[in-house]
Amino acid sequence: MKIGEEASAAIAGASDLAALDVVRTALLGRKAGQVTELLKILPQLPPDDRREAGAVVNALKTAVGEKLDERNAELSKAAPAAASDADLTMPGRARWLGAKHPITLVIEEIEEIFRDLGFTIAVGPEAETEWYNFTSLNFPADHPAMDMHDTLYLSEGVLLRTHTSPVQMRTMQSHKPPIRVLSPGNVYRRDFFDASHAPMFAQIEGLCVDEGISFVDLKAVLTHFANRFFGKTKTRFRPSFFPFTEPSAEMDVECVICGGSGCASCKGTGWMEILGSGMVHPRVLKAAGIDDEKYTGWAFGMGPARIAKLRYNIPDIRILYDSDVRFLEQVAR
Ligand code: PHE
Repeated sequence: MKIGEEASAAIAGASDLAALDVVRTALLGRKAGQVTELLKILPQLPPDDRREAGAVVNALKTAVGEKLDERNAELSKAAPAAASDADLTMPGRARWLGAKHPITLVIEEIEEIFRDLGFTIAVGPEAETEWYNFTSLNFPADHPAMDMHDTLYLSEGVLLRTHTSPVQMRTMQSHKPPIRVLSPGNVYRRDFFDASHAPMFAQIEGLCVDEGISFVDLKAVLTHFANRFFGKTKTRFRPSFFPFTEPSAEMDVECVICGGSGCASCKGTGWMEILGSGMVHPRVLKAAGIDDEKYTGWAFGMGPARIAKLRYNIPDIRILYDSDVRFLEQVAR
């Protein structure tokens, strides 16, 4: 049959997939394909001829279809890549690689500022003894913070540290002054999980011990830190109390939201508290085996979640723990 032979030759002669596509359209194309046209004629034939002609044309259609598929398989196998018409100059698809969490970004930024001042990083265990977490830090035995309500105990005398200050003690025990360390880590408190509290959160402790260290050093270093971290800003120190420092002070920076005029974020005060600090208590130096006549020191502690809350103007810290990518993408770097 003429069309059949011609079709076989055309299919065999197609040298690539594009050429084969042209042949397929010429034979089976809906509009003017040669075989399609034959099928269209069938209804016009007299009923007696129709059945016979129909069988022949349909067999032809099936045979042509099979030949086309065979050739297609051959050509795809021979040159799969070369046959594609992909535009190799198109830019690639960007892949989402993930990014650092805002709390990590804040910790790294704080570390960099203190590293520039000669501080090194110190870490300590999250499961601590009562002695390191409280007793050695001059907490009186009946201090309310030691109460079961705030502290998560693991067993008698062993707890999840409630602050990073025990690292002060461990560092002073293992290193001789001059000491300049920064200690980031997680701490635990039996707090409710609300807009400004989480039962586990990060803290960063700083400690500086040497001969002739005074409150001036504390103020100068922490003010320098605030100006580098928040951009030129105002700071103020308010008297405070911690069992392990004397005197103690909390540092405020000018509210980053309203610039000091007073807004909802700073509860109308124009200031935001960012850290607790003080001169290391002589009893704490003594407990660490450091000569408190010869050496003095200062320390501070701050919460990176709180700092991130200020820096990124976050109304509720729980968003920092939700892992909602829509939020994280906004601060990702
Ligand atoms: N450890 C204190 C707290 O968790 C913070 C602090 C650290 C205060 C060092 C003074 C010196 O609240």
